[in-house]
Amino acid sequence: SLAGLDLRAEIDRLRKEKNAVILAHYYQKPELQDIADFVGDSLELSRKAAETDADVIAFCGVKFMAEVAKILSPQKTVILPDVNAGCSLEDACPPEKFKAFREAHPDHIAITYINCSTEVKALSDIIVTSSSAEKILSQIPRDQKIIFGPDRHLGGYLSRKFDREMLLWPGVCIVHEAFSETELLKLKAQHPGAPIAAHPECPPTIVDHADYVGSTSGILNYAKTIDADTLIVATEPHIIHQMQLAIPGKTFIGAPGADGNCNCNICPYMALNTMEKLYISLRDLTPQIEIEEGLRLKAKESLDRMLGMAS
Ligand code: 13P
Ligand code: SF4
Repeated sequence: SLAGLDLRAEIDRLRKEKNAVILAHYYQKPELQDIADFVGDSLELSRKAAETDADVIAFCGVKFMAEVAKILSPQKTVILPDVNAGCSLEDACPPEKFKAFREAHPDHIAITYINCSTEVKALSDIIVTSSSAEKILSQIPRDQKIIFGPDRHLGGYLSRKFDREMLLWPGVCIVHEAFSETELLKLKAQHPGAPIAAHPECPPTIVDHADYVGSTSGILNYAKTIDADTLIVATEPHIIHQMQLAIPGKTFIGAPGADGNCNCNICPYMALNTMEKLYISLRDLTPQIEIEEGLRLKAKESLDRMLGMAS
């Protein structure tokens, strides 16, 4: 039993003993963010995973993120505290269907959001994250036809911003899909001076009201620049923890779902990771991410293209 264990101290001890680095996404529980060596967005976490000289990467995030770490650092042991931490975007894009879609549009290149399986990465030309997508898209010749998947809201946002048609895969993030425009406008009326920051995984009904649209780290940086004393945050609300640490004294309000509060926007996949599970995974070095070498090398090509084009 774990009862009576000082989990923080035990995780610290194991981290040293196993020469492990703990990486956490902004959507993780505050205690996991606090114990991590590094907290970041998807692009920053990929870069950290590629650079670290630790023997073990303990990934507090979802499975596709831990797989990216393994693709980029195959010689390292990569552990994910809960192996069931998936993503609705990955689920929405089965590799065999994606392959058939690509084959039906041979004159298109596939620019694919990092929130997908390793198999779909291997079937793609260039991976993007929400923080690298605009920079990468601006480097693609305008006459090049594009398939963009699996997030149709991010794809739609980029398509409008660049005034450029793309074939969109119909996936959504269930978390960002749950924000309510009606409730957001009610909240905005109660805080007239508060800007709204939104993640591009939100539908247009939310993004269209935003003063800033960007990745989690983009939103966090934006929060540091505002004059207003209150910010409305239309992304997974655990990121508010980093805002409160970085900018004490300001008020950060999670954008509401249809029930009027922001708890329905907690990512159920990210929430599967806990301090207890992190402790056990460091102690036992399990569950480990394993990727077949041929598949890994193919997926690495599209990821490396992103890392090259985004730098
Ligand atoms: P970023 O941190 O790259 O903005 O990604 C958001 C997200 O939904 C991750 O699952
Ligand atoms: Fe996937 Fe959305 Fe959860 Fe991110 S927040 S892991 S995109 S379901």
